Amino acid sequence: MTLDLAAIRAQFPILAEKIHGKRLAYLDNAATTQKPESVLRALDGYYRHANSNVHRAVHELAARATTQYEAARDRIAAFLKVTREEIVFTRGTTEGINLVARSFLQPRLQPGDEVLVSGMEHHSNIVPWQLAGAKVVAARVTDEGELDLDDWRAKLGPRTRLVAIVQVSNSLGTVNPVAEMIREAHARGVPVLVDGAQAVAHEAQDLRALGADFYACSAHKAYGPTGFGVLFARREHLEAMPPWHGGGDMIRTVAFEASTWNEVPYKFEAGTPDIAGAIGLAAALDWIESVGLDAIHAHESAVLDYATPRLAEIPGLRLIGTARHKVGVLSFVMDGAHAHDLGSILDQQGVAVRTGHHCTMPLMERFGIPATARASLAVYNGTDDIDQLVVALHTARRLFA
Ligand code: ALA
Repeated sequence: MTLDLAAIRAQFPILAEKIHGKRLAYLDNAATTQKPESVLRALDGYYRHANSNVHRAVHELAARATTQYEAARDRIAAFLKVTREEIVFTRGTTEGINLVARSFLQPRLQPGDEVLVSGMEHHSNIVPWQLAGAKVVAARVTDEGELDLDDWRAKLGPRTRLVAIVQVSNSLGTVNPVAEMIREAHARGVPVLVDGAQAVAHEAQDLRALGADFYACSAHKAYGPTGFGVLFARREHLEAMPPWHGGGDMIRTVAFEASTWNEVPYKFEAGTPDIAGAIGLAAALDWIESVGLDAIHAHESAVLDYATPRLAEIPGLRLIGTARHKVGVLSFVMDGAHAHDLGSILDQQGVAVRTGHHCTMPLMERFGIPATARASLAVYNGTDDIDQLVVALHTARRLFA
């Protein structure tokens, strides 16, 4: 199936921006995707016609806000193929992981207990476990940027309290075999959290079939708004876990002596939530499904296949992350050029990439580099964006030579 790229691009007004007088080639989608008209309309429509607080009042606007907000939960649950009670609204992937660290892991931890991660984790899948008091153990990453599964198996030991694994690496694009890892961890009685931040906009997810105990993702990397995300957790975990933030809406009764908690998932949703964020994400998922995740995946893979040899043949450029199974992420270094300088030169030519350690400092250390430049794809990218990147990289090479 081929996409009508022009029709897709026409739905993203920001793509028409001129950057330093040049056409925009937006290749920083792993940091955040742009938003289609339908998401912008949903956000605007909510604030114009329904804005109120949720679960609190009986007036008409409160009813509209609550209805739309809870309909969004149904929409998101259906997209991930789980039940609405298992969907906790968060500020994003990072908050979801912190919730699990604080509320699930910390009460179970004994001194010396471990969380097994991979060497390609984002800081948000390392630091929360450290804050909870766990020892973080990381499985080796190969020179190609794949997880060394034998090393991972060897480290899945009697002290492992939790496996936490990134489904798609933000720095490398590597797709990890999370289904197989979940089966193996469960066979040893170890629960699994999957960081799905970089996966949900690129490959269809069936969380029931996947079998993860926890799955965290963000709206803004899937064509939705920033500051909003979702934590899926199996219902039995949510029922057993204590709340972590106290405040409005997460309670059943409050007295000075003691309080009792609301049912799940509300037990974990203290304070006025990001109502528009939920509605915006539901609109984004509608948009994704209107294009089709299979079509999105096929298109992005074709652009990745076009881009990889073109970048690889630029003299002095080295790709970091050449896994057999990867999504549209191209991380690279160039001889004689610091990644940030490279990023600035590309920007002058209208090409937006991210530069730096991408919040994966241990992975950079593994490859012996401080930083990379990273081009990352979304469905609106085409071979013309890659051509613009390649021309800009040749210009950069001349400047640094
Ligand atoms: N985690 C996001 C990225 O990889 C921000 O750029």
